[in-house]
Amino acid sequence: MSSMRDSRETSLTKAFVCGYPIKHSRSPIIHGHWLREFGIAGEYKALEVPPESFADFISGLKSGESEFTGGNVTIPHKEKAFALADIPDELASELGAANTLYRDDGKLKATNTDGYGFLANLDDSAKGWDRKRNIAVILGAGGASRAVIQAVRDRGFQEIHVLNRTVERARELADRFGPRVHAAPIAALNERLQGADLFVNTTSLGMDDGEAIEIDFSPMQPTGLVTDIVYVPMMTPFLLQAEAQDMTIADGLGMLLHQAVPGFEKWFGRRPVVTEELRAKIVADLERH
Ligand code: ATR
Repeated sequence: MSSMRDSRETSLTKAFVCGYPIKHSRSPIIHGHWLREFGIAGEYKALEVPPESFADFISGLKSGESEFTGGNVTIPHKEKAFALADIPDELASELGAANTLYRDDGKLKATNTDGYGFLANLDDSAKGWDRKRNIAVILGAGGASRAVIQAVRDRGFQEIHVLNRTVERARELADRFGPRVHAAPIAALNERLQGADLFVNTTSLGMDDGEAIEIDFSPMQPTGLVTDIVYVPMMTPFLLQAEAQDMTIADGLGMLLHQAVPGFEKWFGRRPVVTEELRAKIVADLERH
């Protein structure tokens, strides 16, 4: 049964976000906003799928038995989504993780839009941020860091330094993403920040019980950009320090909004725009919870 036939039968295109847990996901608000804006008779639902049920969930999607045409995948399913899809694209394959699934020609395709979201957010909210692409410093070597490394490399940064508490994880990423990517321990921060044009935090540094580290942003280019991909809270301890030192900053909420654009277009056929109105809606929701 093809997805075309499914959607004609129900006359309602349905997409999902699945994770475990899922209740904090803001994706239904984002896609619901766009569905209403375009007047599309579609649905976007949050599904809590435990790890042991994920493979069955994907089987249903592949066979066309599922009511869904595609969807987003979040923690902890991104790696499995990549592995189970029929055709992952190059971005997802290099990351070993997918966040967007869609049916096409009877196949389940997979991509990863996190890197796109990261870049599109900066292009939108920090215009000219990539005029100089010499040195980027990325804190953290977890799942979220990978898409940022890939994106920054593909945008043409010449030297990308990945600093992590567990330096071995940073080394694995340097090996994975090629010769422009270098690993270092957090103790090397001051040295690696020399002349940096971009500094990205992908960790929860300073937000759990651990001590917040004090960061001196002055070795960076004075025109450099500091950004965080964490958006709860929107002003992270990292961004607060950068702001206090007069650096240009960009918060992480825009990445969440922009990463949703390509998926919506694939499932619902229209390319949405990230507006101030949508951003305000999510900010209000973050303030409520
Ligand atoms: P995610 O997929 O969100 O990136 P993750 O894979 O658990 O999550 O990675 C979390 C990142 O934050 C890692 O880089 C982690 O460092 P380690 O690899 O050394 O664990 C980093 N991190 C978390 N808490 C930290 C802390 N208190 N100090 C320094 N780094 C921290």
